[in-house]
Amino acid sequence: MCGIIGYTGLEEATPILLDGLEQLEYRGYDSAGLALFTPGGSLQRLRAKGRLSALRDRVREQAESGADLRGTAGLGHTRWATHGEPSERNAHPHRSANGLYSIVHNGIIENFEALRAEMEAEGVAFTSETDTEVVAQLLEKLDTGDARETLRRTLPHLEGSFALGILYHSEPGVLYCARRQSPLLVARSQSGTLLASDAAALLPHTRSIFRLEDGEMARLTAEGITFFDGKGNETAKSPIEAARHVTAAEKGAYAHFMRKEIDEQPEAVRRTLEPLLRSRQLQLGEGERALHDPGDIHRMIFLGCGSAWHVGCVGRIIAEELCGIPASAELASEFRAQKSAINSHTLCVIVSQSGETADSLMALRLAAECGARTLSIVNVEGSSIAEESDCVLFTKAGLEVAVATTKAYSTQLAVIYALCARLAQLRGTWSGDSLAAFLHGLTALPDQIEETLRTCEAPAIAWAQELAANEHAYFIGRSLDHAAALEGSLKLKEISYIHAEAYAAGELKHGTISLLESGTPVVGVCCRQSVTAKTKNNLEECAARGAKLFCLTNDTALRLPRQILLPRCHTLLATSLSVLPMQLLAYKCAELRKCDIDKPRSLAKSVTVE
Ligand code: F6R
Repeated sequence: MCGIIGYTGLEEATPILLDGLEQLEYRGYDSAGLALFTPGGSLQRLRAKGRLSALRDRVREQAESGADLRGTAGLGHTRWATHGEPSERNAHPHRSANGLYSIVHNGIIENFEALRAEMEAEGVAFTSETDTEVVAQLLEKLDTGDARETLRRTLPHLEGSFALGILYHSEPGVLYCARRQSPLLVARSQSGTLLASDAAALLPHTRSIFRLEDGEMARLTAEGITFFDGKGNETAKSPIEAARHVTAAEKGAYAHFMRKEIDEQPEAVRRTLEPLLRSRQLQLGEGERALHDPGDIHRMIFLGCGSAWHVGCVGRIIAEELCGIPASAELASEFRAQKSAINSHTLCVIVSQSGETADSLMALRLAAECGARTLSIVNVEGSSIAEESDCVLFTKAGLEVAVATTKAYSTQLAVIYALCARLAQLRGTWSGDSLAAFLHGLTALPDQIEETLRTCEAPAIAWAQELAANEHAYFIGRSLDHAAALEGSLKLKEISYIHAEAYAAGELKHGTISLLESGTPVVGVCCRQSVTAKTKNNLEECAARGAKLFCLTNDTALRLPRQILLPRCHTLLATSLSVLPMQLLAYKCAELRKCDIDKPRSLAKSVTVE
């Protein structure tokens, strides 16, 4: 997490750095800061707790007082706290005791306590509680007078992950950078060179973007970039295919990006399916490579975090049902916690919007080490997961700005459907009429999403008015409806701060039902035809204990309390529709509770720490 931007060139750096941070703020927003070389060659720093707007205010105040933050080379950072509370003194850039080095950092230095204790024993005075400051202090301690050599000697002492931007006070106008496990890009523009943790901050300036690989370093001047490997040897690089579809997102008439992104779902799903499903024929392009010798796939594992894991929960069910392959959905962060029985007969499907989620990336690497086939479903071209997996299927959600995912989730589901259906077709486990019916349903899905959004808004508002004042809510469903309930409850809790839990409907009576009191909201998802009757019984058990029921179904015969009736679709595709009113419910509740919808507290869009 955290956003890093750096610039050196012919232009004033402050506006470039602030605008870059604006693009990166979704990565973390508890404090922000800048460090610049002044025209006289000294280093100036400005930091502020809170949103980027607080830093902008500080810059403005400084300008008004005649002390402009001037200079053509500098670094900026927007923070998501890992070590040390959000505060000005913990905000980046951090400086070494004698001011030789100023740095910004993304990632976690896992051995920072030992390094700090060692340096404190030597008399170094620390000014923050961060893990980052040890890097600045260590650079100063190991300084050789040559920043590149110092950096090369310092990095092996660091354990953990980092993307680092570094200013060395003896080389005004020069930026250094290095990375391990955290993404970092560098770029050449018309007026200079840049570095950033994310292409979004670079694309307004250039499409000439280079990806730093693990263990690599770079030196940036106004004239150009030099790359080095871990031994300090110069290396050559070619620019990456920067995400073609990324353009600066605008809210337009919408109050929030999340609401806009909810409405973008029909088009995003249509765009995603278009290359995969032409004239009702499945064709996965590059993804076909992961499915070669399909009979040799003995196990499928879906890996992801948060909503991406929820997509995997859907994938698990569909893969088993369509392809007859034992399948599981694993939380990427847990996957590495124990030994899994995976090998070359395993297909690992890594689901990630950003393509940079550290836990998912590490899970991918482990899967690859074990010899598994790896296929990723990713939204960001050029991202680490997309680059490192055997093959990738891109979702075409476009830039998703709101921290709570909506359109990326829906497009991930769409890819999962196409992937499982294609594998079933290749394995011969599903053919003829059943496959044709599924593909017919898939083709109709974007229109049905559109219809659902149109018809569900008013009832979702009515639900929100009844539910928003509660502090707890439960979401229940069976099978695919349980997977949808997981996503519905996450949406509600992350943006409205209402505590919400999802349970498999049959599990309530094994403990959870004791939590229900008079008026406790229970959202029931009843869209998987084979299990709706059973879920209905579970809902009645809740109502008998005083729960207030909110029900989603596509079965006109059910007649449930506060029922939202969804369009009937293929039973395996129902999650794509049932999730929509729950997204709207979460959004409306958050609005009624006056929450910061696009940037919920303590969260960040791209989670690049484990
Ligand atoms: C929730 C949400 C998160 C992400 C998770 C994984 O609304 O967006 O749970 O799904 O952090 O992120 P990606 O998909 O970028 O790997």
